[in-house]
Amino acid sequence: MSETVVTEKQTGTNQVKDTNQKTSAFRAILRYGKPHRLTFVLIFFCSLLGIAAELSQPYLIKIAIDDHLALGRTGLTFLIQIALVYLVLSVISFVFTYIQNNLLQYAGQNIVADLRKDLFTHISKMSMSFFDRRHSGSLVTNVSSDTETISSFFTQVLLSLIRDGMMLVMIIIFMFQLDVTLALYSVAVLPFIALVAVLFRKYLRETYQQARTRLSRLVAFIAENLSGMFLIQAFHQEKEQMKQFNEQNGHYFSANVRQIRSNVIFNRTFDILGNIALVLMVWLGGKAVLGSTLEVGVLYAFISYIRQFFQPINQITMQWNTFQSTTVSMERIWAILSTDPGIKEPSAKDAVSITSDDVNGRLDFKNVSFGYLENQSIINKLNLTVQPGEMIGIVGTTGAGKSTVISLLNRFYDVNEGSIEIDGTDIRKLPQETLHRIVGLIQQDPFLFSGSIIDNVRLFREEVTREQVIEACKFVGADSMIRRLSDGYDTHLSERGSGLSAGERQLISFARIVVFQPRILILDEATANLDSHTEQLVQDALSTVSAGRTTIVIAHRLSTIMHSDRILVMKDGRIVESGTHQELMELRGYYEDLYQHALEAGREAVYEERSRNDAG
Ligand SMILES: Nc1ncnc2c1ncn2[C@@H]1O[C@H](COP(=O)(O)OP(=O)(O)OP(=O)(O)O)[C@@H](O)[C@H]1O
Ligand SMILES: [Mg+2]
Repeated sequence: MSETVVTEKQTGTNQVKDTNQKTSAFRAILRYGKPHRLTFVLIFFCSLLGIAAELSQPYLIKIAIDDHLALGRTGLTFLIQIALVYLVLSVISFVFTYIQNNLLQYAGQNIVADLRKDLFTHISKMSMSFFDRRHSGSLVTNVSSDTETISSFFTQVLLSLIRDGMMLVMIIIFMFQLDVTLALYSVAVLPFIALVAVLFRKYLRETYQQARTRLSRLVAFIAENLSGMFLIQAFHQEKEQMKQFNEQNGHYFSANVRQIRSNVIFNRTFDILGNIALVLMVWLGGKAVLGSTLEVGVLYAFISYIRQFFQPINQITMQWNTFQSTTVSMERIWAILSTDPGIKEPSAKDAVSITSDDVNGRLDFKNVSFGYLENQSIINKLNLTVQPGEMIGIVGTTGAGKSTVISLLNRFYDVNEGSIEIDGTDIRKLPQETLHRIVGLIQQDPFLFSGSIIDNVRLFREEVTREQVIEACKFVGADSMIRRLSDGYDTHLSERGSGLSAGERQLISFARIVVFQPRILILDEATANLDSHTEQLVQDALSTVSAGRTTIVIAHRLSTIMHSDRILVMKDGRIVESGTHQELMELRGYYEDLYQHALEAGREAVYEERSRNDAG
């Protein structure tokens, strides 16, 4: 990183930085190939043997024609011998090509599997600010198709460089060995071929890039749609979204067609060039044979080689495109891998090791300031002390920074100034695993993993027994609800916990709390939007679970927090009022205002329900 900065300062251009980044991306990815060095050496030798066997075949026929058939020295035994050698050469070529291909695929897939693993591990370590800046759709593309492109670098580009490069060199050697004049003529076509390849290459690359961009846009669009399907249907956006989808789909279609068309033109041009060279060879060679300056067998071998000559050149130029897209993918992946995770684990020296059981649960926010963006101030010099076992309620306007305070306590983001301490220890000195064991979080829309209810409660930790899970669910009052499900505790939940209501999902997260026993419990608007029956269940679960724990409850419904030991009112990232319900009512400030509003709203709700009942 510092290296890049220095160069940039020295030259003042971005170009150098770009190239630097490219090389470091390239080097970093190549490093994944290092453990497979030996395999690559083996691949090299297998290719060598395979190609040598393949290219010896025309030579063998040449010997048969010129040294035997042309001289009238034939016989069945001789023909059988030649046929047998030809067969052996074919088998050798097949076997070594097969081994080489297998080895290469194995190494290539291994490398990419490692890369995917590292990439996913790195992404899961990123702070939330990383995800604020990125579409999950594009991250999906990074992990899936970018790594796939890199795999094609190892399996196709490298293969082509080794195999086709070697083939080309060997063909040229064989040609010169056979006849220098004809060989010179053949090699003379090379610059011409190179010119065509260069001209086409740029165009091909452009079409390829365009198709890729269209595809990743389409994927991102689909990913966004899937996660927002609920909203789309709720707002009858299907038609609009379909229109957009058709548009994106159409773009991708035409980009693909264009790419395929230009590929076909390129390949056919190559074929034509090859045929022209072949015709020239037949003409020049034929004349020489007629003038008896060339043997028929040599001409035969040349014609075979000229046919094989174009194939590796074509392959190598084709691979150039793959190589280009690989560099793009490498840069993209490297951009993620080289991004600092933001939230740092404490160094072994600084780390404070405590277990969840040792924690009393005292919380200190000391002069905490924070903003999501630079020069932005969401939390301003917040000071707050929460005693072990105390229950705090937080209310405030939308956007006041309540959820932000919780995110800071969970270290989804790090504070800009000040510190947050648990039992006097800065949370930055706690290993993240410890911190997340101490602090248990229940969100309004709890996330459930795809898996059974049991697994969702114990978070896939096998050491928690089924009995413990069931006991926890009974404790929070979720047992009867779960038993009503089709497979009870083994009901499989899909992503987003489909099939369960928000309240039911919350009950499951309460059960998690009972299982993992965090010392500090946090609820962010956990009881908003619940029907009164489920709310009662959740309320009961809350009072059961919060007993003896430091608890912070953020709520818009005052009924949830009215009985807290202390209520804080937040506004613009500051605490503006604080005290018990009684004290705040007497203060006649923001809280009292909120309470009156809530009361009126409540009356209206009761009135509505009554009139509905009367009507029914
Ligand atoms: N990821 C983010 N990136 C940038 N700004 C953000 C981000 N999350 C929240 N904010 C901003 O920070 C401010 C505080 O947000 P926060 O979510 O803490 O409010 P809140 O008090 O929880 O509100 P609510 O009661 O609506 O949940 C808001 O102005 C919001 O726009
Ligand atoms: Mg919030």
